Amino acid sequence: MDKARKLLIAGNWKMNKTVAEALDLVRGLQIEVGLVKEVDIVICPPFTALSEVSKAVLDSKSIRLGAQDLSQHNFGAYTGEVCAGMLKEFSVRYVVLGHSERRQFQKETDALINAKAKTALAASLKPIICVGETLAEREANITEKIVDTQVTGCLAGLTKEQMDEVVIAYEPVWAIGTGKTATSAQAQEVHAFIRQRVAALFDETVAKRARILYGGSVKPSNTRELMSQPDVDGALVGGASLEIRSFSDIVKNSI
Ligand code: 13P
Repeated sequence: MDKARKLLIAGNWKMNKTVAEALDLVRGLQIEVGLVKEVDIVICPPFTALSEVSKAVLDSKSIRLGAQDLSQHNFGAYTGEVCAGMLKEFSVRYVVLGHSERRQFQKETDALINAKAKTALAASLKPIICVGETLAEREANITEKIVDTQVTGCLAGLTKEQMDEVVIAYEPVWAIGTGKTATSAQAQEVHAFIRQRVAALFDETVAKRARILYGGSVKPSNTRELMSQPDVDGALVGGASLEIRSFSDIVKNSI
């Protein structure tokens, strides 16, 4: 697939996989897609598996490591939190921020996600910032308003140079783990809107370079169609990233 921006296929393992299971998965992925150069591949295991998985991908030509969250603080009395420096110890390059599950269950706000993005960027970690509307918001026809507020809030105060390191993930909440994928036309419409907002907030060059991933029930069978949309620059995959076959087929179908 010939696109202006290099596609990025990221697997968000969420709260799944023991260390042993994580190693089985990553070793299988190394065999299947370990030499892929056409797309960037990122896997985001839970914190507890980062140490061992990082050793398994140390020499990988294609697979990079991501985390699922970080603290906005760099150290101190924040029980249960994990900071950027701790992630860097395991060669983590990316970090998912503002996932809808964290917005919902941990009550994360755009302001907090923005603070975390700044902390990540200061530590040379690339944030994958998630935005997306709920089903009620889509049905109320306020998808663009919601996504605009999230994009504006999460990217506030970032420089154009920092934006080069930022990945945005559009994940309609109603499509996450439900088997309901946004149609490629629905995804394209919101992706184009996000790019337009990035151009307004920064400039056209920043917007043209920004990678915008789609997430929500991505599977091997819908990957090609979604990735063929001009403003879809990759995928953030949940359930289908937990198995060697489905995740490697998603990677292969995106090439
Ligand atoms: P599913 O692929 O399981 O729908 O999850 C998407 C997601 O939330 C990725 O971050």
